[in-house]
Amino acid sequence: TQKHYFSTELLSWYRRHKRDLPWRRSRNPYYIWVSEIMLQQTRVDTVIPYFNRFIDKFPTVQALAEAPEDEVLKAWEGLGYYSRARNLQSAVREVNERYGGVVPDTKDDVASLKGVGPYTTGAILSIAYNKPEPAVDGNVMRVLSRYFLIEDDIMKPKTRVRMEALAQELIPEGAAGDFNQALMELGALVCTPKSPHCLTCPVLAHCDGRAAGMEETLPVKSKA
Ligand code: ADE
Repeated sequence: TQKHYFSTELLSWYRRHKRDLPWRRSRNPYYIWVSEIMLQQTRVDTVIPYFNRFIDKFPTVQALAEAPEDEVLKAWEGLGYYSRARNLQSAVREVNERYGGVVPDTKDDVASLKGVGPYTTGAILSIAYNKPEPAVDGNVMRVLSRYFLIEDDIMKPKTRVRMEALAQELIPEGAAGDFNQALMELGALVCTPKSPHCLTCPVLAHCDGRAAGMEETLPVKSKA
């Protein structure tokens, strides 16, 4: 089927082509958390040196929890959106106190952390703990809307809910972390916003959006 093909081919492609990124070298939930917060509004290439310096300076939940805020903000200088750093440290302090420094592994506990929305919750649970939770951001919605030719407005909350259900259904048994990262990687490297690289796409053969010549017009996104 179209869904099974997508999951197996995408996962296999990712395992062959994934970029060697510093936060992919371990499944340390704290590293995954820091990387996902940095990647929210900042490109991968920019994040890499900041991530390495940050982990060097604050290697554990306990180290970040105990650091003075101004040192954390200094390490964030240049990344912008400083509320991300403040929320991260505040949530890390909560993890240090409430959970003894261990990042929790349940949806409710992770989702209740400051600055951690549905996307980041799914990313932490799947990448660090391999739990079958979707991690749907704008890139993932673009990939899914094209492959399955979904014309729903991605600005509508209902559309995200539909995409999350679909993304969860697609997760291959026991491979949630790799599969979710494969979706992100396809969106970053192949299924790009403009001029997607369809000829190198591992799932081109069953892509309904491309078949309809709609790869560049999807996703549908209303203004404001
Ligand atoms: N963008 C958001 N999360 C990412 C990840 N884990 N790897 C690469 N790009 C990402």
